[in-house]
Amino acid sequence: MEELKIIQTAGFIPEKEVKNADLAQIMSTSDEWIQTRTGIKKRHISLQANTSDLCIKVAQKLLEKSQISAQMLDLIIVATMSPDSTTPATAAIVQGALNAKNAYAFDISAACAGFVYGLKTAANFLKDPKIKYVLLIGGEVLSKLVAWDDRSTAVLFGDGAAGALLAIDQQTESGILGSDLKTFGQFNTSLTAAKTQPLSEFPPKTNEKRYTPFMMDGRAVYNFATEQVPRSLRDACQDAGLSLAEIDLFLLHQANERIIKSIAKRLDLPLAKFPLGLAELGNTSAASIPLLLDDLIQSKKVTRGQTLALCGFGGGLTIGTLIIKF
Ligand code: UT7
Repeated sequence: MEELKIIQTAGFIPEKEVKNADLAQIMSTSDEWIQTRTGIKKRHISLQANTSDLCIKVAQKLLEKSQISAQMLDLIIVATMSPDSTTPATAAIVQGALNAKNAYAFDISAACAGFVYGLKTAANFLKDPKIKYVLLIGGEVLSKLVAWDDRSTAVLFGDGAAGALLAIDQQTESGILGSDLKTFGQFNTSLTAAKTQPLSEFPPKTNEKRYTPFMMDGRAVYNFATEQVPRSLRDACQDAGLSLAEIDLFLLHQANERIIKSIAKRLDLPLAKFPLGLAELGNTSAASIPLLLDDLIQSKKVTRGQTLALCGFGGGLTIGTLIIKF
């Protein structure tokens, strides 16, 4: 077992709510299509505030809830596919805003698997005795990347951030029991956002587009998820020496209710073990698993001592499953 305790969780959702019916006003779609194909009823959109702003709000909540000072942090990781900029890292902006002067900071780019990759990364860093507290946040403002005239993607995503304060606590059994992280880079073109374009000539054309908008081959990613997630959950359970039946709850990336139902069916597990959080939030990429976890902790559906499977999947294509003792 790798020691890792999720000390506290917190989330932040921007105020502006966009219902399916609101989208039907600006593109050729319907509430009926979105709900039946995805399970999404509405999402929240960030106006003015960028990814770092959402992450700073989460970080401040985490410090307040945990009663520790920013100076006690040793490492800050932000998992995001919608950073404020390619440089500086969004995590560096968070570190600066908190005045967390003893922490170093970097981003993880693993799309919707980012939070799970971040937990695994944090566990490795926590093996260093110099590192006591790690702040890990999954934060996204996807609304700035989405092509709002492309109904095949625009209706799916939402903005939000959530995270966890992580440490090692030898008094408890909390930790990572097993894992399965895989990257399928051969499918990298299945989901791309803000893809950069090299210059086509020099001197450069002043009006040349430098970035392409959000693009997803939905069907390909759907098939990938329904095939690879069950496999990854099985592999991670095997790594943990546990059966699937011994997992209390499966916290999957909240991309599509149909994907989650299909996975539960393929594994012959009750849907009640797969909590859902996307109806109100849409797909929030790296924020979706910590938002769900925080919500379940608040409602006491996740409690200490439970065995949880966390599984993220998406752009890369990436997949990451951790079996944790909470
Ligand atoms: O977070 C990263 C991981 N992402 C995922 O896991 C997403 C995986 N993919 C999916 O969840 C699904 O593929 C989607 C929800 C994106 C799409 O559902 P689908 O059942 O695969 O639909 P489709 O793309 O095959 O499209 C079916 C029809 C098409 O019309 P025709 O060709 O059958 O006439 C689309 O043009 O639905 C049409 N369509 C829409 N209609 C109304 C596509 N988007 C919309 C829309 N409103 N927003």
